[in-house]
Amino acid sequence: MPTHDPTAPARIFVAGATGVLGRRVVDRLVAGGHAVAGLSRSDANAAWLNAHGAEPRSGDLFDAAAMRALTADCDTILHLATAIPTKPRTSVADWAANDRIRRDGTRALVDAAVRNGCRRLVAQSVTFVYGDRGGAWVDEDTPAAGDLSPVVRSAVDLETIVRSAAADRGLPGAVLRCGMFYAHDSAQTRDMLAAIRKGFLPIVGSGTAHWNIVHADDAADAVCRAATAPSLASGEVLNICDDEPVMVRDLVGFAARALGGRTPRRVPAWLARLLLGRHAVDVLLASSRCRNARAKAALGWQPRYATYREGYGAVIARWRGDEGAERA
Ligand SMILES: NC(=O)c1ccc[n+]([C@@H]2O[C@H](COP(=O)([O-])OP(=O)(O)OC[C@H]3O[C@@H](n4cnc5c(N)ncnc54)[C@H](OP(=O)(O)O)[C@@H]3O)[C@@H](O)[C@H]2O)c1
Repeated sequence: MPTHDPTAPARIFVAGATGVLGRRVVDRLVAGGHAVAGLSRSDANAAWLNAHGAEPRSGDLFDAAAMRALTADCDTILHLATAIPTKPRTSVADWAANDRIRRDGTRALVDAAVRNGCRRLVAQSVTFVYGDRGGAWVDEDTPAAGDLSPVVRSAVDLETIVRSAAADRGLPGAVLRCGMFYAHDSAQTRDMLAAIRKGFLPIVGSGTAHWNIVHADDAADAVCRAATAPSLASGEVLNICDDEPVMVRDLVGFAARALGGRTPRRVPAWLARLLLGRHAVDVLLASSRCRNARAKAALGWQPRYATYREGYGAVIARWRGDEGAERA
């Protein structure tokens, strides 16, 4: 098993280097003087990596031998790859690629990290694993819900794979449970804001479910800190979300006012399930309030956008500017 020189600058392999989260992580790591290798399947994304100071590496995430070879000179592996469907109505089949990335992809990267003697592996999970707690506060000691939607169960499996390798194979692995991302360049955020402005985005049910959210810039900051922190407990699990879980009706109402949109209509949950698919709606109706104190303490992390008011306010301002720029 190779051992990496702890005094040498880190070489960090990023799977998912070209997504909403990964692009931000790559830019921060490169700016911090780290050598970054990014996995990518397309020429366009490889060109983006090159242009941003990272080395593109091409390979199949599900091929364990290929992942071992591609990461042989790396001391740190970040698993940020996802394939979250962005179309409005989804079935379980639409989530299959994402589930496979979380299960087979995590196994391949964990195996590579163990065999290559990496000093750390950080994997992206989701705060949805807490399921519906009726709006109760939760922290990392709260067990994952037992009745999770199948599209979230794969995140629990990802966590189990990383934590088992930490416990049984000596892998210094950490899991970041990220809240719902938002950013000016997130397809989900743009679609949501466009629908809110047109008055098309309904509030499902009472709108009193609490969401845990995080600006993608803040999530990237947490990932980089987890990747490069001098020490981090092996098997650590950290909630990466802002300081104020928000009720859906407050978030949508805030955005509607900021965008000059109509007051959002309400639709019953049964109708939303019919229109959007059961699993996506169940995930969006699940209510929990996540504490982020452990991440702050372990990583010295503080979200720059502490609540939806600052964060969505900034995104909406940028989005409107982008729109103006596009029209000009
Ligand atoms: N916690 C959250 O709320 C959360 C988490 C993730 C995503 N999202 C949302 O979901 C939407 C889509 O996310 P995105 O724009 O980041 O997606 P994306 O552009 O599809 O990027 C996903 C990343 O994963 C990689 N990837 C996907 N499938 C792969 C595979 N089979 N093998 C290797 N790498 C693979 C992609 O690499 P390639 O360069 O090879 O394409 C890319 O780097 C966005 O709106 C985002 O905000 C939300």
